[in-house]
Amino acid sequence: MTRPLLIAIDGPAASGKGTLARRLADYFHLPHLDTGLTYRAVAHMLMEKGWPLDDEAHAIEAAKLVDLGRLDKHALSAHAVGDAASRVAVIPEVRKILVGKQRAFARQPSGAVLDGRDIGTVVCPDANVKLYVTASAKVRAMRRLRDIESRGGSADFAEILADIERRDARDMGREDSPLRPAEDAHLLDTSEMSIETAFLAAKALIDKALSSGSTA
Ligand code: C5P
Repeated sequence: MTRPLLIAIDGPAASGKGTLARRLADYFHLPHLDTGLTYRAVAHMLMEKGWPLDDEAHAIEAAKLVDLGRLDKHALSAHAVGDAASRVAVIPEVRKILVGKQRAFARQPSGAVLDGRDIGTVVCPDANVKLYVTASAKVRAMRRLRDIESRGGSADFAEILADIERRDARDMGREDSPLRPAEDAHLLDTSEMSIETAFLAAKALIDKALSSGSTA
């Protein structure tokens, strides 16, 4: 009997975890959930209605309405929405509702890849393989800037770096499910790695877990 392959990927903003998660999901033919989009969806609903991001009652209502099949990646990808998401993500009841939906996704018989901040620690503590993807704040700010520029936008490097450092502090410092590596996570510092190198390193770790029978 083998149990489904469940891969948990965590890390700070712009660490490359999303790209890596998509590559691994493609390679292993697994469904993928970017859990950051669920927090972004809540923030986006509040922003559209003009409600404050610390309006807990409305944030909870919005979390209940999040439909994993209807996450509009394009509308949710804006840098400002990511920052707003980290504000609603401190509300424990919002987390509870979204974690319930994320766990349901993770339980698919096919297995799955989930990426976020608390996948290895809270959402899927029983995942077969846990990766904690990181990179220096400067490298992450540069990646974010290039990403914005590649979509025709413009931004200031120092501002992006300050945003990233503020978001790290909020995500690592919150009381409920702070960002931290699970004890059994493999650390992958991508500061000096290409996507391809990071993918090969992650694939090697997963192959090793598969052959040592952690999916058995
Ligand atoms: O990964 P992304 O930048 O889309 O996440 C946006 C915000 O959502 C994060 O800064 C974090 O505060 C929150 N988040 C979270 N737990 C997750 C995924 C994202 O708290 N599993």
